[in-house]
Parts: sequence; C-alpha cells; structure tokens
Amino acid sequence: MRPHLAMPALLIGAVIAVAALAQPAQLARAQAAEEGAPALPDVSWSFEGPFGTFDRAALQRGFQIYSQVCSTCHSMNLLTYDDLAGPDGLGYTEAEVKAIAAQKQVPTINKEGQPAMRPALPSDHFVPPFPNEKAAGAGFGGTAPPDLSDIIKARDGHERYVYGILTGFREPPKGFHVPSGRYYNLYFPGHVIAMPPPLQDNVVTYSDGTKATLDQEAHDVVTFLTWASDPTMEQRKQTGAKVILFLLAMTGVLYGAKRRVWSDVEH
Ligand code: HEC
Repeated sequence: MRPHLAMPALLIGAVIAVAALAQPAQLARAQAAEEGAPALPDVSWSFEGPFGTFDRAALQRGFQIYSQVCSTCHSMNLLTYDDLAGPDGLGYTEAEVKAIAAQKQVPTINKEGQPAMRPALPSDHFVPPFPNEKAAGAGFGGTAPPDLSDIIKARDGHERYVYGILTGFREPPKGFHVPSGRYYNLYFPGHVIAMPPPLQDNVVTYSDGTKATLDQEAHDVVTFLTWASDPTMEQRKQTGAKVILFLLAMTGVLYGAKRRVWSDVEH
C-alpha cells in the first residue's frame, strides 16, 4: 500500500487540465508549416491562454468593422442581436442592442396580409446582405462570401489565418497570373481569392477614438469573430480555473491527511 501516490496523481491531473485548456494555436502553426503554406502572422490576443478573456472595447470595435464593412457581403446567420447583450455579450445594454437591431429591416406580413418590412427586433437573427446563396455569389463570379458565424473554428490556423487573410493582400509575384475580379492573397490556399481587399487604414472612424490602422482593424474584427464562434469561452475557462484550484486544494488536504495517518506507522 502506497498512499503517498495520491499527490503525484493529483498533480498530474492538474497539469493535464492546464494543458487541455491551452489554445491549439501552436499545433495549427506547426500544421501550416508542414503543408508548405507561408507561416501565419504571429499576433498576440487578449483571449489566448487558459485565463484569457475578450477585450470588450476590441469586441465593440470589431463589431463596428463587421457592421460597416464585412456585413455588406457576409452573413452571420447564427447570431441574434440579443447575443450582443448580457454577460457573454459585447458589453452593450439591452437598450443599445434594441437600437442596433432597429437599424435593420426584416420581411413581415402586414395587417392586410401583404408582404411588408419592419424594423428588426433583438430576438431576430442578424439580417443577411443577400436573400440566398446564388444572389450572394452573383457579384463574385459565382463564389459566395461564406457565412462568418463560425469562420474562426472552420479554418485551419483559426484567428491567425483570418487575420492573415485580412492583412495578406499583395501585388502578385512576377509572372503570377491573377484573373480579373480576383486578388492575390499571401495566405489564401492557391493565393487567388474572390474577395476584394476589405480593409485599409481609416476604413472606419472608431467611436472610441482608437486609431484605425489596417492592423488594428484586422485585430479587432478577428477578436469579434472569435467571440462569435465561441461566445461562452470565458465561462468555460473560469470553470477550468476553478477545477484546477479545487485539484490543488485537494492535493494539499490529501497530503496533510496522509502525513497524519502515517506519522505513527512510519516511525
Ligand atoms: C465586397 C464583398 C466582401 C467584403 C466587403 C468582405 N468580404 Fe470576405 N469574402 C468575400 C468573398 C467573395 C469571399 C470568397 C473568397 C473565395 O473563396 O475566393 C470572401 C471570403 C472571406 C473569408 C474566407 C476565406 C477562406 O478561407 O475561405 C473570410 C475569413 C472573410 N472573407 C472575411 C471577411 C471580413 C472579416 C470582412 C470584413 C473586414 C470581409 N470578409 C469583407 C467578399 C467580401
């Protein structure tokens, strides 16, 4: 019988829990390098690591970029305006969310039974820019802009990849043919993308006074998109942190108990 095994076992448990909470960014970078794609830009994020949180100001700036720039082409069908309020939201009040929703119009049936439009409500899903996939692709040689609700999780490289796409537009290398209506992007597979460069310095004027450089805009909108694809991340990390604290406390308690129980026997 070897009761002192309890402590190493619990410590190993705690280490595994910490490792499981860490972001898979390094893995993604290793994968990208393996496939011969250029290494993705190495940017740091407030939401990285086991205790990372979303920077509320960055989230709101990112939502401003999405609303004023990306939403002319990209839907985010999984979100409702309500998602922007509440503890897992962007820090907006219910009244602010109501006003944000009311700027959009959604189809309805009026009292006479005729098709009509009404202002969107907080419970409505984000209003998409196009009525269907075909209409969405029509302006881009048939390549519809993908829905962005889950784009960070859906692409290898995650936030670094999407940041790379937004900042990776370049002049094509000599001899590289880019068809008309297509653009050269360093990080897009095959380098030929149907999206015109959406961001540049001062594409918006930030309501909080932050200087709107291309990098800042890309960083903010990627923060917003990361939240959108994982809105309960902060809660999950908090739970993880509590589990680790509990494991550490239990380790201490059990170690103390072991010493007391065995103090007579071992001497
Ligand atoms: C003028 C229309 C337009 C605007 C504005 C626009 N996009 Fe796109 N976007 C597209 C199209 C079209 C594609 C499809 C590209 C392809 O597959 O070649 C695309 C693709 C993407 C992709 C997916 C790339 C991949 O790996 O498949 C991401 C991510 C993206 N856009 C993010 C954004 C963000 C963020 C914004 C706002 C800052 C934005 N887009 C603004 C048209 C647009």
